[in-house]
Amino acid sequence: MTSSSKKHSVLARLFFFCFALAGTSSRAQLVTIPVETHSNALVLQADEKKNFNIVYFGEKLQNSSEYINAPRVYRQTGDYTDLLHASYAPSGSRNLTEPAITVIHADGNTSLDLRYISHKVEKVSDNISVLSVVLKDPVYDFQVVQYFKTYFAEDVIEQWSVISHQEKKDVTLQKYASGIVHMTAGSYWLTQYHGDWAKEMQPEVSKITHGIKTLDSKLGTRANLFQPSVFMVSLDKPATEDEGTVLYGGLEWSGNFRVDMELDPQDNLRIIAGINNFASPYILKPKEEFRTPAFLYLLSHHGKGEASRKMHAWARKYKLLDGEGNRLTLLNNWEATYFDFNEQKLFKLLKDTKELGVDLFLLDDGWFANKYPRNGDTAGLGDWDENKSKLPNGIASLVKEAKNNQVKFGIWIEPEMVNPKSELYEKHPEWVIKQPQREEHYFRNQLVLDLTNAAVQDFVFKVVDDLFVKNPELAYIKWDCNAVIFNAYSASLKNQTHLYVDYVRGLYKVLERIRAKYPKVPMMLCSGGGGRVDYAALQYFTEFWPSDNTDPLERIYIQWEYSHFYPAIATSNHVTEWGKQPLKFRVDVAMMGKLGFDIVVHDLPEKDLKFCQEAIQNYNALKSVIWQGDLYRLADPKEQSIASLLYVQSDKRKAVLFNYLVKNRYGEGSILPVKLKGLDATKRYKIRETNLYPGTQSSINPEQIYSGDFLMKVGFNPDVNNGRKSVVLVIEEVAR
Ligand code: DGJ
Repeated sequence: MTSSSKKHSVLARLFFFCFALAGTSSRAQLVTIPVETHSNALVLQADEKKNFNIVYFGEKLQNSSEYINAPRVYRQTGDYTDLLHASYAPSGSRNLTEPAITVIHADGNTSLDLRYISHKVEKVSDNISVLSVVLKDPVYDFQVVQYFKTYFAEDVIEQWSVISHQEKKDVTLQKYASGIVHMTAGSYWLTQYHGDWAKEMQPEVSKITHGIKTLDSKLGTRANLFQPSVFMVSLDKPATEDEGTVLYGGLEWSGNFRVDMELDPQDNLRIIAGINNFASPYILKPKEEFRTPAFLYLLSHHGKGEASRKMHAWARKYKLLDGEGNRLTLLNNWEATYFDFNEQKLFKLLKDTKELGVDLFLLDDGWFANKYPRNGDTAGLGDWDENKSKLPNGIASLVKEAKNNQVKFGIWIEPEMVNPKSELYEKHPEWVIKQPQREEHYFRNQLVLDLTNAAVQDFVFKVVDDLFVKNPELAYIKWDCNAVIFNAYSASLKNQTHLYVDYVRGLYKVLERIRAKYPKVPMMLCSGGGGRVDYAALQYFTEFWPSDNTDPLERIYIQWEYSHFYPAIATSNHVTEWGKQPLKFRVDVAMMGKLGFDIVVHDLPEKDLKFCQEAIQNYNALKSVIWQGDLYRLADPKEQSIASLLYVQSDKRKAVLFNYLVKNRYGEGSILPVKLKGLDATKRYKIRETNLYPGTQSSINPEQIYSGDFLMKVGFNPDVNNGRKSVVLVIEEVAR
């Protein structure tokens, strides 16, 4: 029996034990359901009246029979008792807090009450269990099944709900959150993010005050442009990398989201997360099911570092497409050519790709459309035939030429969108999201196609399918999404208020079909920079584009923040001409994730080219540590003059340490040693510098031997300064 299956059989016994206890204690009618992961317990309980509550969420107890004694949180209003910890708070009856669900019944009544009926636990694997709990309204034939999927080792919980009814006519769901998390502490500290194009993931930390703080998006597509749904809540004080209790959360949904954090007068915090119900009442027919997306969360008691490592491990193993697989280094032509290219120019870039030594050439925007050629961002989107004057021999000849150069070929598409100046728009204006009686309003000169319409889904699928059918050796897709939804209206939808929800469902249907036919082809999730990334989308994508801002100095901060939630293997970083930093700095920064280039290789001075070629070889030797290793953020660029990040291989025999100078004032640099983490104290290590620019020498002595103990307690100075702005170090175990 593995240790984790032992834990599960213990868990199974625990369930039995609790019921036995429930039967003999003074709390005889209670049903207590502890959901345990490696470090935590989420304890659910049905009380005497079958109200269903979360009575505890925190570190798990040594003696699980004690969960039954967790206090229930009430608010007494006269002779009226209001439950503050409902697991799925309904509205219109006794609950006065922010609800998870609000409905209008078939008869027009707006009240809902939900009582516990039954539950079951399904063991999916040694590490994964799913608890489902049936809740019903005693008056109306209306039910919610709550799901709690636990990933034991990673302490991750995914929570969602399936709503249905058997009333005589349709019911309107006014609000339909995925779930609620209840927290109890002296104070709560929120880390949230905001941004815009080229300014993604700007963090802000604040103390949560009484009332409701909402994180939300109403943009439809490109939903994260101004704010993502991911957040952190620290208990009692802001968590550091290694200390403090912190909840990481986010919604697995690529459209409008809403996360409410309600701090009540008794200092309980409720986090209610789900699809944004903004302009989206959803009509539910009898017997139809509405399944919410999953609210994902993870509680760590050892700070943000542990939370990230667990999130990354979970993502690689269970969510991100091919999370433990391979990735392709690439040369992209976007910033090298923009829309200005032809076959000959691309042939030259294919040669460059080979010379550089990356795996793949990625052809970006501008390769398609004939009546309205895609020579800029004002025309052609939607017309996915190769542009005959730029590519007289089609994509096929590029794929062939790539093969001649022994590199792979990938292509950019933006299949959800249309320029008004396109044949697609002329032919199918009814496929476009726009108000019939209002002036059109554009975002990057384009409009969004109506993915709620099955015909449009077929069209989008066919854009991708045709590319693969015609070019079976096509090896990579960059899927872009540059516009938000204005003038929300679908010509084919009966209920206009379904548009935002059904759009995302339509998108997932297309992606399902693509993955059924092309299960593993790498695809990059891009959205005019980093306007769309979440763990529902990443089930279909192997990587995402964090931002169009590739200035390496800016990028350090952007990548640092994304690294809290997404693993390095999913984070595409390209070396470009943005910023004022030397090439080595740009390459070193891009190497901390999935490496790519977007530069004119044949214009590079000889030494620069040599440096890039060697860096790619170094990257290939280190990529498994960067992609699959444990990440330790050692020096925070927001607080120090350097940023340092360490990736440690799981057997602790090898690690890679990235160091960057982020402040340029006199004397800035790594004045003190950086204390390493995650190594084996008893192992002996040597440290060597890699990615040296041709003709330069390292100041690091590669022969010196250090114990892991020394490196973690005394530390190591990477010697970052104005003359050595970025330093990449390889730490390897020395055989005894
Ligand atoms: C926005 C993306 O973020 C860029 O990388 C590039 O692909 C352009 N779109 C192309 O239009």
